[in-house]
Amino acid sequence: MSPVDTTPAPRLVELSAADLRTHLGEALAVYVEAMDYPKGTEIHRAPMWTEHATRPGWRGIVAYGPPRDGAEASAQPSAPLVGIAYGYRGAPHQWWHQQVREGMRRAGADPNSIESVLGDYFELTELHVSPRAQGHGTGSALLTALLADRPEARVLLSTPEVPHEDNRAWRLYRRLGFTDVVRHFRFSGDSRPFAVLGRELPLRPSTTESTGATR
Ligand SMILES: CC(C)(COP(=O)(O)OP(=O)(O)OC[C@H]1O[C@@H](n2cnc3c(N)ncnc32)[C@H](O)[C@@H]1OP(=O)(O)O)[C@@H](O)C(=O)NCCC(=O)NCCS
Repeated sequence: MSPVDTTPAPRLVELSAADLRTHLGEALAVYVEAMDYPKGTEIHRAPMWTEHATRPGWRGIVAYGPPRDGAEASAQPSAPLVGIAYGYRGAPHQWWHQQVREGMRRAGADPNSIESVLGDYFELTELHVSPRAQGHGTGSALLTALLADRPEARVLLSTPEVPHEDNRAWRLYRRLGFTDVVRHFRFSGDSRPFAVLGRELPLRPSTTESTGATR
């Protein structure tokens, strides 16, 4: 019998673009910690995240951990932000779209299959959970809430390649049915190899979990 996880479920809250600006510092701190980036990375990312929130079809969701110091769960200021997920509708003029199109072309995909993948998609741009909160379902809950009721035909994302797909991000994406679009792809200006993964929407009921994001 496996041990029971007694960690309380995270509280998910859907953000407006204005909410993101308000919580930008906390959300970027989670991102830098989760990705193990050097301190200061958040300064360069702040304008980009703010601009992303103005794009058509943007949706963002944050997760709060248990309240600090035994405070009431409703006392939002005492509950630490432990996760962030956002994305928006992909479009041909976007840098990421153009990079993936070129990556697919170079990998030998024919124009029809490129069009069927890039014609109608939601880009999962960021998904991060604070290391101290990982491994308790927060990432799955954020992702399924973010993708619920999306109008697009599919979701696409890019994630760094890691040996044997052996990290939480890869296991999460595989568990939720993401498959390869392009592998070992190098985005302009970044020497690291990335995988572009995708899956059709909606998520099958068997792969989703109860999420209950509130506003
Ligand atoms: C990827 C990431 C967002 C996943 O968040 P997470 O909260 O750890 O994800 P989950 O808890 O839903 O799933 C991770 C693990 O917990 C397990 N899990 C899921 N729900 C669970 C639950 N209710 N109880 C216990 N364990 C659970 C999963 O089986 C999974 O285990 P595994 O990694 O051994 O397969 C997070 O690990 C992260 O921020 N990583 C660093 C940044 C990153 O790589 N971001 C993605 C870039 S593209």
